[in-house]
Amino acid sequence: MTVHLTLDNEVLAKTYDEISDSQFHNGSTLVGELEVKSGATVLDIGCGTGRLGRYVVEIIGTSGSLIGIDPLAERIRIANEKNEHSNAVYKIGSAEDLGSIADNSIDVAYLSAVFHWVTDKVTALREIFRVLKPGGRVGITTGAKELNSFSEIQQITDSVLKREPYAAVVKTEDATLKKHGLTATELIQLLTQAGFTVENIQVKKITGSHATAEDLIKHHEASSFGNYLSHVPESLREQAKADIESEINKGRTKDGIQFDRHTIFAIAQKRSEHG
Ligand SMILES: C[S@@+](CC[C@H](N)C(=O)[O-])C[C@H]1O[C@@H](n2cnc3c(N)ncnc32)[C@H](O)[C@@H]1O
Repeated sequence: MTVHLTLDNEVLAKTYDEISDSQFHNGSTLVGELEVKSGATVLDIGCGTGRLGRYVVEIIGTSGSLIGIDPLAERIRIANEKNEHSNAVYKIGSAEDLGSIADNSIDVAYLSAVFHWVTDKVTALREIFRVLKPGGRVGITTGAKELNSFSEIQQITDSVLKREPYAAVVKTEDATLKKHGLTATELIQLLTQAGFTVENIQVKKITGSHATAEDLIKHHEASSFGNYLSHVPESLREQAKADIESEINKGRTKDGIQFDRHTIFAIAQKRSEHG
């Protein structure tokens, strides 16, 4: 199942900007681990609506600069609308083609909640390696594929889709993230093959909180720019959503809905020749 870039719309993009607290929390943790400094030149790959970029631009100050790229026009539109800094630019682009960025020009590049969506990961890492200065760092947060089966939301989604009327027409293994996600070991291999030195890699348990099952599904749809149930035929998608929501609501407590998932945090360096 390919990653669809045509399912996004104004509502999904706006919703993402408003409810992406968990990605923002992980992204700001990653930025802290990357030790982004005042004056740095930063590349935010898959910047979405620019929420993390708006945080990073405060860290780098007026002597730094930030370039945010994302393939989704609606997300870039919001990023530009909310941008208040002339040293930050947001434009349409993808991780696989950083052609507009010069070799050895970036201090820090990061992909916050993006790498599992990147179709050609080898080309993307080759491009990131090219644009980083020697000594520059790349940071990645991404789902830990090897632990997907322990994700309760994944379990519930699959269990509903294995029932009729879905079972006859849906293959649960076709879910986009199952096709494009990667394990921590695969990430180490890819980074190393691209020439990076992996400095730190951790798998962290992240607990997501939502008031209702409907909010959780909205979060999944907005985060996946419409890909969450793209392996379900369109005619059954709304019904599937309702069935998944009702299963999720069974686990609702007075504090709402809480689900754990596992996220990889990786930091890698393009070593300078002198180490
Ligand atoms: C979950 S959002 C993350 C947005 C933002 N980085 C954050 O931390 O909130 C995933 C983003 O990855 C972007 N994306 C998907 N494929 C991409 C690619 N090949 N290159 C760069 N970004 C991509 C999507 O357009 C989407 O905005």
